[in-house]
Amino acid sequence: MDHFLYRNGELFAEDVPLSCIAQQVGTPVYVYSAATLTRHFGLFRQALDWTDHLVCFAVKSNSNLAVLKLMGDLGAGMDVVSGGEYARAKAAGVPGDRIVFSGVGKTVPEMRMAIEGGIRQFNIESEPEMRALSALCVSMGATVPVAIRVNPDVDAKTHEKIATGKSDNKFGIPISRAMAVYAEAASLPGLRVVGVDVHIGSQLTDLAPFRAAYLKVAELTRALRAEGHDITRLDLGGGLGIPYRRDNSAPPLPIEYGQVIRETVGDLGCEIEIEPGRNIVGNAGVLLSRVIYVKNGEDRDFLIVDAAMNDLLRPAMYGSHHDIVPLIEPAVGAPVRPYDVVGPVCESGDTFQKGADLPELAAGGLVAFRSAGAYGAVMASEYNSRPLVPEVLVQGDHFAVIRARPTFEEMLARDSIPAWL
Ligand code: LLP
Repeated sequence: MDHFLYRNGELFAEDVPLSCIAQQVGTPVYVYSAATLTRHFGLFRQALDWTDHLVCFAVKSNSNLAVLKLMGDLGAGMDVVSGGEYARAKAAGVPGDRIVFSGVGKTVPEMRMAIEGGIRQFNIESEPEMRALSALCVSMGATVPVAIRVNPDVDAKTHEKIATGKSDNKFGIPISRAMAVYAEAASLPGLRVVGVDVHIGSQLTDLAPFRAAYLKVAELTRALRAEGHDITRLDLGGGLGIPYRRDNSAPPLPIEYGQVIRETVGDLGCEIEIEPGRNIVGNAGVLLSRVIYVKNGEDRDFLIVDAAMNDLLRPAMYGSHHDIVPLIEPAVGAPVRPYDVVGPVCESGDTFQKGADLPELAAGGLVAFRSAGAYGAVMASEYNSRPLVPEVLVQGDHFAVIRARPTFEEMLARDSIPAWL
């Protein structure tokens, strides 16, 4: 459930009419609902309330400081994958001991930054990374908690670009080699082995791959303990999918996911960490856009809107679907017509949806792309020199701009022309 509902014939975010935000901030603009974020985070907490746990929000899904502050204030940890994400988590007031550092290519300066600022654990993804971290720790006189990300060779049954748990993906250490790698980790100075980490992919709509992966993690944990490793934490990654179509059967709920965790690894007595991103923020955000033109093509009508692939990349990149809804509620039984909804960017890939059934819309009309809170603004660019899309946070009956739209001057000021030109 989210807080984007029609009320008195128009779409609201909580108690704010979205048309108001479009009017005051302009379009395109991302709008997030604080109540929805809070609710979704609470569902994960509840799903794990049978054990010690930390829900680490996957910062990559939405890294706006206001969103991170809201999550951090609720008690969330953070899963970061770069120095920039680490800096954001800290700037949002999240203490280092609630930040886990994931990612296949952490650089030494990034690792140093996290050690200096405080870190809950590094999720190690390769032997060279493990050795580099150890050497760095020795040079700094530090010891850091580490988990090793294992690749369980499980098919997550999701889009190939966001599946991470098969042996041909670049992620983690093959689970078949895990015992040897843990033995080396235990022998390296500066590292304190505390856990096992796994993440098999994103937008999973079936619990079976999670179950398969977590059973492998449980088996590995027992084997590691038998070898004397003190495994006290399991980081089970993120990946639980969300409904992108309202008319579609819904993916499993966090509570059902929590049950799978309990059934697979619950008897190990480990503290459980999870790293959900999309499930918390995906349906807590919409992208508002205004119709620029309605263009009658040869055999179809194009709705040319002011949002484009640079603002919401997912349809162009993964062929993803986002429900598009008008801000004015259509009357029951009102006729719909199929539109190809496209942006102004000069690529045919800049198509959000073909044949979207929408009520008749005219230039100036407003629409919302639903389920856009995760991997929306964070993947936006300024392609075609379109200023970076702004973001707004709603709470109850008020809202604030949490990232302003840059002016052309600000956008241009980042470039410089060398004196010799
Ligand atoms: N933990 C790790 C190590 C990850 O790599 C990811 C996502 C997550 C947690 C969070 O997964 P989530 O709960 O959000 O599914 N840009 C793509 C999604 C990429 C996901 C990458 N990793 C998209 O728009 O669908």
